[in-house]
Amino acid sequence: MFDPETWAKTSDVVAQDAAEFVPKMIQEMRWTQGDRVLDFGCGAGNVGFHWILPQVEKLDGNLCSIDISSRMLEYAKKTYPHPKIDYICADILADDEGKGLGDFQFNNIFANYVFHQIRDIRKLLQRLHGMLKPGGSLGFIFLTNKNWYFQALQKLAKRDKWKAYFEGFEHIVADWTSYEEKVDGENKFTKLMQESGLKVKTLQILNRNFFYEDIEVVLDLWLSANIFLHRLTEPMKMELREENRKIMTEFAGVPLNSKSLMKEYEIVYGVVDKPQANINL
Ligand SMILES: C[S@@+](CC[C@H](N)C(=O)[O-])C[C@H]1O[C@@H](n2cnc3c(N)ncnc32)[C@H](O)[C@@H]1O
Repeated sequence: MFDPETWAKTSDVVAQDAAEFVPKMIQEMRWTQGDRVLDFGCGAGNVGFHWILPQVEKLDGNLCSIDISSRMLEYAKKTYPHPKIDYICADILADDEGKGLGDFQFNNIFANYVFHQIRDIRKLLQRLHGMLKPGGSLGFIFLTNKNWYFQALQKLAKRDKWKAYFEGFEHIVADWTSYEEKVDGENKFTKLMQESGLKVKTLQILNRNFFYEDIEVVLDLWLSANIFLHRLTEPMKMELREENRKIMTEFAGVPLNSKSLMKEYEIVYGVVDKPQANINL
């Protein structure tokens, strides 16, 4: 999906959220000496290195950073090598789950900005539940369907011009992340966790803002995140970029020729536990 260089240049918003919420996750989790920790969907590796590793090092533990993308993983390995981090390229949902991952069990798991990329969320939660030690926690941030990028994709996929090229778009917009009112959304995601055997400690839908000094950065991100890009000619890519600009500036309520933009977005932040024994959730 993303190439690591573009991701590193355009993902300040993700790093900003990690800087604020990973320390909160750490506080809500239980820790013991020598803990094994998983950074699921580690991407370019910066979040694991800057925000998870210091806690792991304090306890003389170990961080296992997994990503399905070999390009992301190679970048992470090269940019953030550390004796306490094992980088593994693997699809956590693969049915040969033993391959590469061994029978790893983790004290705590982090998933920053990953769940919304997963269509079969129940399968994923079941797998993460299996990888967590009883009493361990899973901390996550994910985007909901209300986010501008997903809304833009859905708008474009309906337009005659893009329909054929965006065929299969529904596979990248995870429909389980949609909801109507905030309170219904929090209830829906809480129920999803509980039905996966996880006890919810915190789960909130939060409205956020991020100021892009340069609107071109977010246009780069939207383009690079589009998995259908290879179906488009170079002039079409430019046309798509301009349509994205129109949609994005409309969402932000600023003129089309704006150089900067305040992006409104929302995240779901949560920490859930795998209960020690069978207890009522
Ligand atoms: C949006 S990036 C977030 C990266 C990182 N956690 C961060 O906060 O910067 C999501 C990452 O999840 C990875 N991913 C998606 N599905 C996965 C799967 N089934 N198994 C392993 N990694 C996966 C993607 O390759 C991508 O690098």
